[in-house]
Amino acid sequence: MSGFDLVAPYYDHVVRIVFGQKINNFNRKILASIAPVKRCMIIGGGSGKILLDAIEMNLASSYCYAELSSKMKKKAKDRLNDRQLQQVTFTADYSETDSRFDLIVLPFVLDCYSESSVHQFLYNLEPILTNHGKLLIIDFNHEPLNDQRPTFIQKQFIRLLYLFFRITSNIEAKKLPRILSILKDSNFTLISRDRLYNGWIVSSVYGSAKNDDVA
Ligand SMILES: C[S@@+](CC[C@H](N)C(=O)[O-])C[C@H]1O[C@@H](n2cnc3c(N)ncnc32)[C@H](O)[C@@H]1O
Repeated sequence: MSGFDLVAPYYDHVVRIVFGQKINNFNRKILASIAPVKRCMIIGGGSGKILLDAIEMNLASSYCYAELSSKMKKKAKDRLNDRQLQQVTFTADYSETDSRFDLIVLPFVLDCYSESSVHQFLYNLEPILTNHGKLLIIDFNHEPLNDQRPTFIQKQFIRLLYLFFRITSNIEAKKLPRILSILKDSNFTLISRDRLYNGWIVSSVYGSAKNDDVA
């Protein structure tokens, strides 16, 4: 049984109780701001709401959906009709691919990892991103962002969240990794950024490490 299998039946309900539709709406807004691509990979998309949104927005011609939890993956498949299913290849491990992608989406997945694993994760993505490919990362953030920073309550909430997921899903991270700082020091180049709840949740689009002409 993979980490998130245990929480898969009620994960979306809990998110809805805590955040309402705010995260779903934020995700949709970000996806809508990205120009359509040929091939898109979504890693750790959970029960597949973000996959369905991407398909309905015609974000890509084809998708690879990499999700470690087989229960989450089953939920994602169940959301799609036969025509939509034909556009998607499902896998558990994102590195088991011979393809390269124009867009790789990481929705609330890097937060499961320690900072050294986030470094490694990003390094592993470089070869499967096309030269002009983009990386979309949506995740919690506790780093100051310009004049904004998460409040004390938000930080305590994140601590609770980690306690919960370490017990139920056996995630590697003991605390939220500094994703923005790691990306800043990486080969990826920031293209655009958006935020929710005064920067507690941040979405960032990065240009491929191999692309010299990103903004
Ligand atoms: C915190 S949940 C987020 C789920 C979903 N993205 C959302 O926002 O509701 C993290 C998800 O990432 C998956 N995951 C973690 N590491 C992964 C990896 N290396 N490859 C694929 N999926 C992964 C977990 O199984 C889990 O479903």
